[in-house]
Amino acid sequence: MLEINNIVYRCCVLLFCHLQEYNATVEFLWAPLLVESNSDDPVNHRLSERIIRPDSVLKHSSQWEHADILIFNSYLWWRQGPVKLLWSSEENGNCEELDGLGAMELAMGAWADWVASKVIPQKKRVFFVTTSPTHFWSQEWEPGSEGNCYNQMRPITLEGYWGSGSDLPTMRMVDKVLSGLGSKVSVINITQLSEYRKDGHPSIYRKFWETLSPQQLANPASYSDCIHWCLPGVPDVWNELIFHFL
Ligand SMILES: *[C@@H]1O[C@H](CO)[C@@H](O)[C@H](O)[C@H]1NC(C)=O
Ligand SMILES: *[C@@H]1O[C@H](CO)[C@@H](O)[C@H](O)[C@H]1NC(C)=O
Repeated sequence: MLEINNIVYRCCVLLFCHLQEYNATVEFLWAPLLVESNSDDPVNHRLSERIIRPDSVLKHSSQWEHADILIFNSYLWWRQGPVKLLWSSEENGNCEELDGLGAMELAMGAWADWVASKVIPQKKRVFFVTTSPTHFWSQEWEPGSEGNCYNQMRPITLEGYWGSGSDLPTMRMVDKVLSGLGSKVSVINITQLSEYRKDGHPSIYRKFWETLSPQQLANPASYSDCIHWCLPGVPDVWNELIFHFL
C-alpha cells in the first residue's frame, strides 16, 4: 500500500487511527513490494538483498481485504537492483533473479489477479497511486548545478518536466496492468504534478533513523531527504484527488 509518506508518520505511527465523527478507521499497512517479501518488517527492511514470493499476495491481502476503500502504491523499493524470486512451490531455492522492473511486473500481476477476482466494485473502491517522484539531482532542472532538493524553495516551472527518478518503463508497465483491470481500479496519477515540486521534500528538516556524522552535518545536502514529502504539502493535493473520486 502507501509507501512511507508523511501522512503515515503524522497520523498513523500506530498503524491506524479511528475518526469517531465519521465512524471510519484509516489504516496503514507496510507492504512495499505488494507481495510477500523479506522487506515486510516496517522497521527492519533495509536489506542488501530483496527476496519476494512473486505469486503470494495472500499474506497481505488477508490484512487489507476487510477495507471498504483501498489505496495502493508501490514503486521506490523496486528501484534498488535485482530481486530474488522464491516461488511458493519451492521452499528454499531462490536462485532465480530479476531486475526490479521485471520483479515488479510479477508482483503487480499477482496483485491484479487479486483485484480481478476479489473486488466487487459496488462494495469496494480500489485506487492505485502512481510513482511519487524524487529530486536528488538538481542538474536535471538546473543544468550545471550540483545539489539536490536541499534549499529548493520554489517549484519547477518548466512544463512537462520529468526527472530521472520517475522511470518511464515502470510507468508504462503499471499503465498496462491497471488498464487490464478496467473499472475495478481508479488511477490517482500524481507523478507529473509532483515532479514540479522539488521544494516539497523535508530535506534536512525531519527526524532521521540513523545518527548523523559530523561530516554529514557539515554538508546538509549530503543527508537531505528528497524522497518523502512535507505536510502540509504535496500529499494534501493527492488526497484532494482521492477525495474527488470518492
Ligand atoms: C460504525 O461502523 C461499524 C462497521 O461498519 C458498524 O458496525 C457500526 O454500527 C457503526 N457505528 C455507528 C455508531 O454508526
Ligand atoms: C500518468 O500520467 C503520465 C503523464 O503525466 C503518463 O505518462 C502515465 O502514463 C500516466 N499513468 C497512468 C497509470 O495513467
